[in-house]
Amino acid sequence: MKYARLLFIGSLLTLLIGCGSTGTDTVKVALVCPLTGDDAAHGQGMKRAFIMAIEDANAQKKLGGITIEALPFDDRSDPKEAVTVANQVISDRGIIGIVGHLNSGCSIPASQVYAKRNLVQITPASTNPKLTQQGLKNVFRVCGTDDVQGSFGANYVFDTLGFTKVAVIHDKTAYGQGLAEEFQKQYLAIGGTVTSFDGIDRGEKDFKALLTRVKEGEPQLVYYGGLYAEAGLLSKQSKELGLAVPLMGGDGIFTNEFARIAGSASEGDFASMVGLPPVKLPLAKDFLARYAQRWPGEDVESYDALTYEATMIILDSYAKCGMDRANLIDTIASLTYNGILGETSFDANGDTRNKAISVNRIKDGQFVFYEHTAAVR
Ligand code: ALA
Repeated sequence: MKYARLLFIGSLLTLLIGCGSTGTDTVKVALVCPLTGDDAAHGQGMKRAFIMAIEDANAQKKLGGITIEALPFDDRSDPKEAVTVANQVISDRGIIGIVGHLNSGCSIPASQVYAKRNLVQITPASTNPKLTQQGLKNVFRVCGTDDVQGSFGANYVFDTLGFTKVAVIHDKTAYGQGLAEEFQKQYLAIGGTVTSFDGIDRGEKDFKALLTRVKEGEPQLVYYGGLYAEAGLLSKQSKELGLAVPLMGGDGIFTNEFARIAGSASEGDFASMVGLPPVKLPLAKDFLARYAQRWPGEDVESYDALTYEATMIILDSYAKCGMDRANLIDTIASLTYNGILGETSFDANGDTRNKAISVNRIKDGQFVFYEHTAAVR
């Protein structure tokens, strides 16, 4: 207790006299993700967790007398809009860091904008490996990546489910296509047969012609790289056409909204998730209880715990080091943070060292944790 108080006073002193003499009484943190459009279930969940993190940090007086303001922005999952918003964000000197974006196709171009101002960006959701391979020091990621998730999925389908023939569909985005390619690469390498490999367009609603062709290959499972809106329709329409095999996707379909769109067709469908779901994170117990009180009736969505943690990591590091942007980046790069996800630290690229992956399955219209398996060869 005494030690905790000393630590707290130490942090305050650092803020007042150390590298972080801010001369300000308010700082802002931005969240950028889709708050409207087809991915809004994910984005609205992120917003709820982000607001909770800021409220908690203010209640804890994490930055001493400085008030923290939450600034959510909507990029509508559109890479062009993401760059427009990023330029808006960098023009506000009061913003100390960005949590976001959701879509890799948005995070990648926006990261170049934040880098111009040395502004820290932590994504809780963008899983394309390229984001952190650009050599940008300001970019961090608290979720896993699709090279790991795609090959995990392939091993899981082949080894654990025992399916040797799979159809692959993706949504042509940086995320969806990237994940599908990683899946296919590993699935072929371990002896699986890919009966078809197709791209669809985001926003498309009728997949019957495609699925009729896919069915001819007699796959035992459809693997989908993309997000829940199209995945829900693919699941529904494939079963309507008599292609009664499970669909499996990655983190992008891991929301009960998927099952709401697909209806009963989604029973037994699978989603992998980069990181463990909060129900399986012992330290997230209190977060989940308070989330239910703060947002009654709302689901805890896939990236909520990750968003909470990303926000806290920015604020905790700022409390240690303050306003200097280069110092803030260095502080995050070398930190070991113990929070609701467990222990987070970053490798040289800014990727979390936590590579946990789970498999979740629809039961009675809801994703339930199915297993956390070491389906790694
Ligand atoms: N993981 C998804 C992406 O990277 C949401 O776009």
